[in-house]
Amino acid sequence: MEESSIIAFNQENVYCGESPKGYGKAYFAKHNFQAGDIVMHGFGRIVNHQTSRFSMQIGLNKHCLPTKWTGRYLNHSCEPNCFVRTRPDGFPDLIALRDIKKGEEITYEYFMSEFVWSPCAQEKRISCRCGAKKCFKKILSFSQLNDSHKRALKKRKIISSYLYNT
Ligand SMILES: C[S@@+](CC[C@H](N)C(=O)[O-])C[C@H]1O[C@@H](n2cnc3c(N)ncnc32)[C@H](O)[C@@H]1O
Ligand SMILES: [Zn+2]
Repeated sequence: MEESSIIAFNQENVYCGESPKGYGKAYFAKHNFQAGDIVMHGFGRIVNHQTSRFSMQIGLNKHCLPTKWTGRYLNHSCEPNCFVRTRPDGFPDLIALRDIKKGEEITYEYFMSEFVWSPCAQEKRISCRCGAKKCFKKILSFSQLNDSHKRALKKRKIISSYLYNT
């Protein structure tokens, strides 16, 4: 997909603002979505390492660096409203896991894209502040989940495609 059409699509669907939960910037729904709708297209320059904060993993040694309008401000929630589905071009789409109301913060679970936290990753050091009733308090990567959780995510098809081979 062309970056310009990705940006235009995302700008139709979300706006960027400060998270009320105090962890910086966030995306919010510009209109209502139904479960299964594409909410955002992810995109970014590809690098071979995770960065401390903004990269999104798309392969075992492949990470992308999203910009403001291509996914840089996607926050984690333990009760997310979106999941990851890999596009044919290898980049992630954020799909509505359930109906989403206009104004809701757009979130996914970081283990849907990140296999392992590198030593520099902020998520290794911070507590989750998503505010969900069942907040896990930690932000885990896919490799830290137990086997039954991994199997369930694979069965539900809500993770980045490269994770199916891990
Ligand atoms: C990809 S950035 C998301 C944008 C970020 N809010 C910002 O303004 O830079 C990831 C960072 O956001 C923060 N973050 C995202 N979700 C969080 C959560 N559930 N609890 C605490 N911090 C979170 C952490 O600092 C994390 O390293
Ligand atoms: Zn949480």
